[in-house]
Amino acid sequence: MRCVAIAATTIDGKIALDQGHFSDWTSKEDKDFLHEMLDKSDVVVVGNNTYKTAIEPLSKRNCIVFTASVATSERKNDLLIYCNPASSDCLPLMEKYERVAILGGTQTYTYFLENDLLDEIYLTIEPIVFGRGLNLFETKEPFETRFKLESTKQLNETGSLLLHYLKR
Ligand SMILES: NC(=O)c1ccc[n+]([C@@H]2O[C@H](COP(=O)([O-])OP(=O)(O)OC[C@H]3O[C@@H](n4cnc5c(N)ncnc54)[C@H](OP(=O)(O)O)[C@@H]3O)[C@@H](O)[C@H]2O)c1
Repeated sequence: MRCVAIAATTIDGKIALDQGHFSDWTSKEDKDFLHEMLDKSDVVVVGNNTYKTAIEPLSKRNCIVFTASVATSERKNDLLIYCNPASSDCLPLMEKYERVAILGGTQTYTYFLENDLLDEIYLTIEPIVFGRGLNLFETKEPFETRFKLESTKQLNETGSLLLHYLKR
């Protein structure tokens, strides 16, 4: 299992204004990159809030949705399984896959960070400021994990910047 987080932030490091905010503010180039990455992944792991903002596009993909609304795990259809990360079901479920795309949001990215499961991060910084909103990560305690910058790419004229980090 290789866990690859894919995220877009503002200049001020926000991934959304609030938990119901659909990610419609990212560039076309970032969206194209995201779809390319998801096509290459064996499964997408997403939190229930993010899933609810993007049910239609995500319903076409093999998804594990994090939620505390199930005790362990529950298959909803061929492509969709609900899983409670507090149960012992989740990790073995994910380990069945080679390439796992972590699609957020904050709570889900943070779960992977805190459990030392993040192998790579693809981070697009969009040239926009929200001034408030949800952070990429939000740990309860101060937390430090080191990554190494593998590559950078400017995606367009306005300066959307794609950064690729590997865990050190
Ligand atoms: N810019 C980006 O790249 C990007 C990417 C993804 C999402 N987003 C944005 O992020 C926002 C949503 O973020 P969010 O932090 O609210 O969360 P989220 O991680 O999408 O969803 C949180 C929900 O997922 C479940 N969950 C997540 N971690 C869990 C854990 N460790 N244990 C149990 N349940 C867990 C819970 O569902 P239940 O309530 O069902 O128990 C929780 O309420 C949306 O606005 C979305 O558009 C932005």
